[in-house]
Amino acid sequence: ATANIGVVGLAVMGSNLARNLASREGNTVAVYNRSRAKTDELLTEHPEAGFVPAFSYDEFAASLTVPRTAVIMVKAGAGTDAVIDELVKVFEPGDIIVDGGNALFTDTIRREKAVRDTGINFVGMGVSGGEEGALLGPSLMPGGSDESWVTLGPILRSIAAVAEGEPCVTHVGHDGAGHFVKMVHNGIEYADMQLIAEAYDLIRRGTGKTPAEIADVFAQWNEGELNSYLIEITAEVLRAQDAATGAPLVDVIVDQAGAKGTGGWTVQTAIDLGVPVSGIAEAVFARSVSSHPEQRAVAANLPGPVDELRVDDAEAFIEDVRLALFASKIVAYSQGFDEIRAGAAQYGWTIDLGAVAKIWRGGCIIRAQFLNRISDAYAEVPDLQVLLTAPYFVDALQRAQDAWRRIVAQAAAAGIPSPAFSSSLAYYDGLRADRLPAALIQGQRDFFGAHTYRRVDREGTFHTLWSGDRSEITAEDTH
Ligand code: 6PG
Repeated sequence: ATANIGVVGLAVMGSNLARNLASREGNTVAVYNRSRAKTDELLTEHPEAGFVPAFSYDEFAASLTVPRTAVIMVKAGAGTDAVIDELVKVFEPGDIIVDGGNALFTDTIRREKAVRDTGINFVGMGVSGGEEGALLGPSLMPGGSDESWVTLGPILRSIAAVAEGEPCVTHVGHDGAGHFVKMVHNGIEYADMQLIAEAYDLIRRGTGKTPAEIADVFAQWNEGELNSYLIEITAEVLRAQDAATGAPLVDVIVDQAGAKGTGGWTVQTAIDLGVPVSGIAEAVFARSVSSHPEQRAVAANLPGPVDELRVDDAEAFIEDVRLALFASKIVAYSQGFDEIRAGAAQYGWTIDLGAVAKIWRGGCIIRAQFLNRISDAYAEVPDLQVLLTAPYFVDALQRAQDAWRRIVAQAAAAGIPSPAFSSSLAYYDGLRADRLPAALIQGQRDFFGAHTYRRVDREGTFHTLWSGDRSEITAEDTH
């Protein structure tokens, strides 16, 4: 046995992660793939990596030093279970199986439990950063046992992206915590992307600027507080020209956004946890709206407003959009962190929210300068109830709110869909409201279903005899 770590599954993500591992001092990497061809190809193309190839699970296990450590990089789902079953047969107590796929965290909890009975450690690990991240430095979100972290920690630290001198990896929490946090990362990713798309659309429709000109706007924004990977690549995409037609590439791409599911999981899970992640939900649903061409075709002639968006001062308008984007982004992250807090409470994980913000500063898709502000906020108040109430964000929202309101109002008046901008603002106003019309909803619920209500002036639970003399009784009397 010569390899200290192995990778199973040598598609792009797996082979890139294997190459990343092999490039770090002290690692020898065993590789295995279901079909031999992929393994041979990787070996031929990357002799410098010094891979130890295995062509059966027995060989794979034999090539690994103890505790054996293997990272599974296969498409999440049944394939993951199949690989785990095989590894469990050839591994021994104390060995470590890591799943680096985009697994649903409840699957990870189930798998961890099942594997734990064998004495083998199972670690669900979120890996973000796409193909390039896997090769050069991803953001890593491992869950699993403390025992596994002792072995995994140094290896993962060596391959993770580095942000301000710190590796973008932390032991997020036990069992499914890593995949949970990766799921929320993707939910925030969806929101961030939708917000950027809305900003682009408003600027284009409001100012008539070309995509290439808007690319310059994003490039400029990337120099300031919005600095992030997604803003940076937005400029690149907007600047791209279609070789065949010479048109802006964004104009020849079909306007139907796909999704592989993680954003939807974030929302489904949030609903189960009772956490309002409305900005993320709107981002998921905006993709769904876009992806129903048959519905869009029959709806295309629905009446819209007479007046189009009219912008007199393009520069001021663009600054308004920037502020609306920033404020909405704060809401999306605040909602995401809220979900992580609630998930941790529900599943019994101890998750350091500030550490999560830190490991998202590099390597991952949502990497952004702004995450420093989030880790600062949690450093100051570790059990912060609502992220956006931290002083830095209050100040930012104070600066942004007038612009944010103007943009949402202008978009609505001109019939330009801005679901993420407007739902974020509605969430913000709902959260800060003194009184909400929820009181009326409680009245309605009590009316038709005797669901009872509490009063602002007395302890207890009450019910009005709506179909009787409409006197109020304490709820105990209804039983
Ligand atoms: C990442 C990404 C990645 C994810 C796609 C899926 O963190 O590297 O989140 O894990 O596979 O971005 O997103 P879609 O649902 O849009 O396909």
